[in-house]
Amino acid sequence: MKLNLKIWRQQDAKSKGKMTDYSISGVEGDMSFLEMLDVLNEQLINKGDEPVVFDHDCREGICGSCSLMINGEPHGPDRMVTTCQLHMRKFSDGDTIVIEPFRAKAFPVIKDLMVDRGAFDRIQQAGGYVSVNTSGNTQDANSIPIDKHDADDAFYAAACIGCGACVAACKNASAMLFTSAKVSQYALLPQGKVEATERVQNMVRQMDLEGFGNCTNTGACEVECPKGISLENIARMNREYYSASVKG
Ligand code: SF4
Ligand code: FES
Repeated sequence: MKLNLKIWRQQDAKSKGKMTDYSISGVEGDMSFLEMLDVLNEQLINKGDEPVVFDHDCREGICGSCSLMINGEPHGPDRMVTTCQLHMRKFSDGDTIVIEPFRAKAFPVIKDLMVDRGAFDRIQQAGGYVSVNTSGNTQDANSIPIDKHDADDAFYAAACIGCGACVAACKNASAMLFTSAKVSQYALLPQGKVEATERVQNMVRQMDLEGFGNCTNTGACEVECPKGISLENIARMNREYYSASVKG
């Protein structure tokens, strides 16, 4: 396949970026989207040009590092896959592909297609954990009965990989789907109930401090999420938040 690429190039956080055109040939349908960018970068390096900077780590859909806006969609045209799992067979010979970074005030561009998603780390640090008593007298988790549906829903919420596609998809750049997944994975389990009140308050406060927008229920986040995180988590987080506010 021969493809035309329009890629966002930006020297650093302070510079003004712009779209740059590239032409690439020899792209195989079995290549992943990131492998296609690897080929482009090899060509650029061989010509003495600067390669395109993009984020990646596991390349198997679990770390949440890859984060490209492809033809206006976070993680591209396929459903329930990350950019690293997107295959070039989804495109046709001669296609033009527009590649941009995830855009949100809370995700500033570091360089080219790489953005700083440290805001997610800080939301997680504000309460996305359970304080464990390691005195040696802690009850064995396997001896605490948990309703099967609650266990399943907690597991589905925990599947969030923190990629940020939900923010990039949202016209308000809201981080409600991410934050609600991180709240829900604990809210549903007895181990998470001890710190539930301060957890939801602290995580929502941090989310607002980071400059993410409000949720207006468009549902774009759920559609673009590569891990199928459900909007039900946002409803659960709202209930947790109101209940925490009443408790003070
Ligand atoms: S909710 Fe989905 S889209 Fe948002 S960070 Fe988690 S995995 Fe990514
Ligand atoms: S590189 Fe890890 S999810 Fe894509």
